[in-house]
Amino acid sequence: GAQLVAQCDDAQLGLAQRQGRVVIDYSSPNVAKRMHVGHLRSTVIGAALHNMTRFAGYEVIADNHIGDWGTQFGKLIVAWRGWLDAAAYEADPIGELQRIYADFEVRAEADPSLADQARHETAKLQAGDPDNRALWRQFIEVSLQEFNTLYARLGIQFDEVLGESAYNDMLQPLVDSLLASGVAQVSDGAVVIPFEDADGPGLAKAPMLIRKRDGAALYPTTDLATVRYRLDRWAPSRIIYVTDTRQQFHFQQVFAACKKLGWTQAELVHCWFGLLSMPEGTMSSRKGNVVNLKDLLDEAARHARALVD
Ligand code: ARG
Repeated sequence: GAQLVAQCDDAQLGLAQRQGRVVIDYSSPNVAKRMHVGHLRSTVIGAALHNMTRFAGYEVIADNHIGDWGTQFGKLIVAWRGWLDAAAYEADPIGELQRIYADFEVRAEADPSLADQARHETAKLQAGDPDNRALWRQFIEVSLQEFNTLYARLGIQFDEVLGESAYNDMLQPLVDSLLASGVAQVSDGAVVIPFEDADGPGLAKAPMLIRKRDGAALYPTTDLATVRYRLDRWAPSRIIYVTDTRQQFHFQQVFAACKKLGWTQAELVHCWFGLLSMPEGTMSSRKGNVVNLKDLLDEAARHARALVD
């Protein structure tokens, strides 16, 4: 009893202060899409881990690894030039970006040349075309503005917002060095990291694709580059990733690849959670059954107010 009271009186609740640095990768939404209820858990579970880890004495680097790179930007650029409603964009930028993107998918079914145009615009963006770069930056900016409003409301702050694009220049040299060291291999014109049973349960069934036949790097490649960067930049003792269950295999592959590479200075942890679904099935913006995070928070606030008023 007395010991518990003393513990409660202690500002640190009697917790021994831990040493070391921890990177927590959480929230990490994709740009040009409105955050919906599916993003709530990576955001709040990540923020809870962030608070607890800091309270325990670790130095924490909260990094929002936003999805700000990839082929969706070519589609958005074509859609923007083709059928943007400027007034709607002015009033609700992300809403309008979502609308023109969804429209792209519909129109592309009837007109296959749109996909080629989008590929062309993606390639131009990646090659540094100034107009496409400016549009892309704008998409990120309006998205971050809205994300930041939600983060402010939830009382969350990140130390870094290093999106996927931050690692872009590291990808080709990384793949080349993995090929040179023999960890990666050419397979059917693509580059993969093959695994064996000894690398971990279930890993032998599929290699990790890190460069497509057309030369494009992929999500796993970016995550490898991100681990390397974080080890060099922060020398953390642990890196924690907070995503839903669908990325379990992805992180098993990434972690196993890091082990093969000897990148073992930090303990890599995937903190995953289950998928949210509605009575009528999984949520999808196409099916129109997505609950926006802002609406959800508004409703929670209304209910809370009704209780206290
Ligand atoms: N942007 C990704 C998504 O929405 C999550 C990124 C998680 N972090 C990472 N380092 N892969 O699915």
